Amino acid sequence: MSERQPCHQTAAWAALEDHYDKVGSKFDLRDAFQSDGKRFETFSQDAPHVFADLSKNRIDATAQMRLFELARACGLERHRDAMFGGEPVNNTEQRAVKHWLLRVPKGASVDPDLALVHETLDAMLAYADRVRADSAITDVVNIGIGGSDLGPQMAVTALQAFAAQGKRLHFVSNIDGHELDAVLATVRPQSTLFLIASKTFTTLETMTNARSAKAWFEAQGGSDIARHFAALTTNVAAAREFGIDTTFGFWDWVGGRYSMWSAIGLPIAIAVGAQGFRDLLSGAHDMDRHFVTQPLERNLPVRLGLLDVWNRNFHGFTSRSIAPYHSALRRVPAFLQQLEMESNGKRVDEQGRALAFETSPVLWGEPGTNGQHAYFQMLHQGTDVVPVEFIAVARPTHKLPTHHDLLLANAVAQAQALMQGKADAGGHRNFPGNRPSTFFLLDSLTPKSLGALLALHEHRVFVSGSIWGINSFDQWGVELGKVLALDVAARLASGDVSGLDGSSAGLLGRLRESMRQQ
Ligand code: F6P
Repeated sequence: MSERQPCHQTAAWAALEDHYDKVGSKFDLRDAFQSDGKRFETFSQDAPHVFADLSKNRIDATAQMRLFELARACGLERHRDAMFGGEPVNNTEQRAVKHWLLRVPKGASVDPDLALVHETLDAMLAYADRVRADSAITDVVNIGIGGSDLGPQMAVTALQAFAAQGKRLHFVSNIDGHELDAVLATVRPQSTLFLIASKTFTTLETMTNARSAKAWFEAQGGSDIARHFAALTTNVAAAREFGIDTTFGFWDWVGGRYSMWSAIGLPIAIAVGAQGFRDLLSGAHDMDRHFVTQPLERNLPVRLGLLDVWNRNFHGFTSRSIAPYHSALRRVPAFLQQLEMESNGKRVDEQGRALAFETSPVLWGEPGTNGQHAYFQMLHQGTDVVPVEFIAVARPTHKLPTHHDLLLANAVAQAQALMQGKADAGGHRNFPGNRPSTFFLLDSLTPKSLGALLALHEHRVFVSGSIWGINSFDQWGVELGKVLALDVAARLASGDVSGLDGSSAGLLGRLRESMRQQ
């Protein structure tokens, strides 16, 4: 794909700056609703399985129009089509970006990799159903980190209501041995299946945990590795070398944080079954089709991604708080953190040139209503304006009376309170209001609606990354720490602090001293 136009050099960007100075900076949500009885309709959007109300954001029709102009001037549609056309849009690694292909039904694309995708999917789902039917396996331990942990863990938690009875799923990610140790203390080798999930099969944390799990298994008398270990990886050769022959592969065109739709999704399939996993894929595919076919003006990922640009580059909001009002969605903020911050937390464009504007905001959050009793104080009355994103589900899967009505009422009330505010002469009880929020609504939380919600966020991140001109699909920023950790580990063992900065040397000294006292 040819070089893209830097977004801040377009006429649309200049027009947005001008509009922000004249109107956007003084925009008041309360006045906007007063003067426009149709604001909710204008600024909300139906998409497959997800409804979104964007009307409580500090945006007007002119800003939105200019943002669509910006998207067109920056070649967003061409860039999207390049991704869906299999071009190497991950230019720093010369890779195509085709996680969307994992969700395409059999025969529905001419992409040459589709047959392979379905061959692997069928094999993996047949394996998942065999594990589900195997009553001797009671525990499944997924060992992986980052994209090889967050997506599966989040989805298994979200779809708990659909999960098989009699199977406990555990997720071990951290190199901190406390995590693996605690899980091993609760399982028995003969009834446990370990899934070693790593795109590269080289990640320090995962390989350290995998080696310890295998050593524990063998020390406990376990011998049938083929039955008790499976690997999910693009590096099948390394898995074999490690001693695992049951492997499910995927490809370098699936980024780690976009990989839960691949073999990395095996824990999800074990939890919800083959059909549940297919439904998850189909919900995501519905959103893919929406993203590819809808005009920008009625395209939810596009509208959201452009709102993100407006909020970050013009309003200058530095963070975004995610508030899922459904406890099963409690891992969604962590999942979205990797998705957005690892994708768009970059300070150079795809050619490596320094950017003249800000990129990824900080994402954070906890489920509602818990957050209300912790940090919502700051959201309502703090000095920073933080857009909040509510995710609510209309129909619960439990039958307890009252709870769900109150949960949903709280979500709507918080969005209302943020916007309305409350005047009080006393100061302390004054709520400034005019605080922006977005409200996502699912009819029910199912594999399908979850798939759609997640694909929506993947594409939204693509849209803002595309406008910013960055490569959203590499992650060079994680490399330096990995290299230094190996050097520090050697120094921690040897005590050699030569050439280190004073703080690192001092800390290593303290650590060695304190470790010796154990
Ligand atoms: O360190 C970052 C990262 O490379 C993520 O992008 C990735 O999801 C994670 O590590 C795990 O990588 P792997 O699946 O190769 O073990």
